Amino acid sequence: MSTTEKNNLGLEVAAIQPVIVSLGELLANYQVFYTNLRGLHWNIQGDKFYELHELYEEYYNEMAEKIDEAAERIVILGGTPTNNFSDYLKLATVKEISSVSDWSKGVDNVFTTLQTLLAQLRALHAQAIKAGDHGTVSLANHGIKSFEKKIWMLSAYLK
Ligand SMILES: [Fe+2]
Repeated sequence: MSTTEKNNLGLEVAAIQPVIVSLGELLANYQVFYTNLRGLHWNIQGDKFYELHELYEEYYNEMAEKIDEAAERIVILGGTPTNNFSDYLKLATVKEISSVSDWSKGVDNVFTTLQTLLAQLRALHAQAIKAGDHGTVSLANHGIKSFEKKIWMLSAYLK
């Protein structure tokens, strides 16, 4: 095959390959984050229970949509998304958390994870631009805007 081989979307296969890999790493981090948020939602205790229990639910519902969007983007580009948690844990840089009931530990963890995801999305954005992949640029842009807003709100909350 020549190096200018194109996929169904007219994008160069060689250029799109690293984008598919990065989307797979993003998917892995999203899945770990989603599961962490479920745990935070369940285990939160204390006077901030009601507000954070609800906030975490809002976050994990949004992450469920983003997980689907990232996985389907991989398929659209010609890749195969993994659906095994054992594979996610190998790829993810976001660490699993266990039974966090302390509200500030939980919010700190979410805050740091959002910063990690933001950096990952910016790198993905740059890669997608290089590959001429506007659909993934758009996915990255939406994620960046959403996570930047959350980082602002959580930093105000933590003051
Ligand atoms: Fe619930």
